[in-house]
Amino acid sequence: MTSTLVTGIGLLVTHDAERSERTDAALVVEDGFVAWVGDAVDAPVADAALDVEGRCVIPGFVDSHSHIMFAGDRADEFEARMSGQPYEAGGIRRTVRLTRQATDDQLLANAQRLLAEARAQGTTTLEIKSGYGLTVEDESRALALAATLTAETTFLGAHVVPDGITRDEYVDLVCGEMLEACAPHARWIDVFCDTGAFTVEEARRILTAGRDAGLGVRMHAAQLGPNPEALALGVSLDAAAIDHCTYLTDADIELLAGSSTVATLLPGVEFSTRRPYPDARRLLDAGVAVALACDCNPGSSYTTSMPLCIALAVREMGLTPVEALRAATLGAATALRRSDIGHLAVGASADLVVLDAPTYVHLAYRPGVPLVHRVPTF
Ligand code: NIG
Ligand code: FE
Repeated sequence: MTSTLVTGIGLLVTHDAERSERTDAALVVEDGFVAWVGDAVDAPVADAALDVEGRCVIPGFVDSHSHIMFAGDRADEFEARMSGQPYEAGGIRRTVRLTRQATDDQLLANAQRLLAEARAQGTTTLEIKSGYGLTVEDESRALALAATLTAETTFLGAHVVPDGITRDEYVDLVCGEMLEACAPHARWIDVFCDTGAFTVEEARRILTAGRDAGLGVRMHAAQLGPNPEALALGVSLDAAAIDHCTYLTDADIELLAGSSTVATLLPGVEFSTRRPYPDARRLLDAGVAVALACDCNPGSSYTTSMPLCIALAVREMGLTPVEALRAATLGAATALRRSDIGHLAVGASADLVVLDAPTYVHLAYRPGVPLVHRVPTF
């Protein structure tokens, strides 16, 4: 057993229910887990020491929503949007064409590049979806590759209906042969239930088939407009999370508040599509569990920066800095139904981030500045 004493912590955020923040703190890591947390003066002896010299230490970010298995980019669409064009789900098909043409090595290298980019910005857990293959072979290879990078893999064959197949045939394929080929590489099933993608009835079939195959349920909904039926479907299937939630009715909020489904907000999307930000304040005040994630993809949100999402949530969505930090760590861990990550209480995975700042408030106070000093591996 090897242990490391992390000491000199000016401010430590553990999210421990008893005492979430401590000053002048220390923490002991043993075999990859937090074994002790307390005042620096009381710190026990350990095999090794890491002095962070007064910096702030936070739990690593949990980015519970990404689409990093793709090839190419769509900067031209972003440029067109910035001159007034609307975002449309159909752009996904462009990336599908490029992704199908890419070799395994090219796809993996691109995903590794984005994963490294995310880690350098403090992300220690990243969910990865398929969804740019849309054939049995291309979806299953995306998931097999993703599974080499993360335990949080999501089958999103239901991203859009690809060219050359009818809707009904495609939904049958997703629920049948494609699910069978993908389920061994996936932990979750997801569906894009919105204008230009899949209807609520199609989503019900797909999510139910995924759940019956042993996958956990999550969904994309209310990104492009209100969709109370989609929200009701997600909650009725006990989805771990419904992602986007940009357009919610009062009834949707009440439903979420009374459920164990997390609302995952993706402010990179509103930034990059010039749409109104979701009202995170309204959700928290109503008692909804909220997560923040990047939704890194080449169409609607080409960022891996959780600090950017935190800054946007604070500035544009009504959260305080600590609420935004919580949503990006503990909230997103809950959105993945994980209790071992997203916090630094004793027993948690030692996924921690040392900020080059005295407090996490700087994540929003100093937007756009690289504030991650170190993401140690133990
Ligand atoms: O989460 N909404 C669906 N999927 C992605 C967008 C994918 C794309 O435009 O390529 C999203 O925003
Ligand atoms: Fe997405």
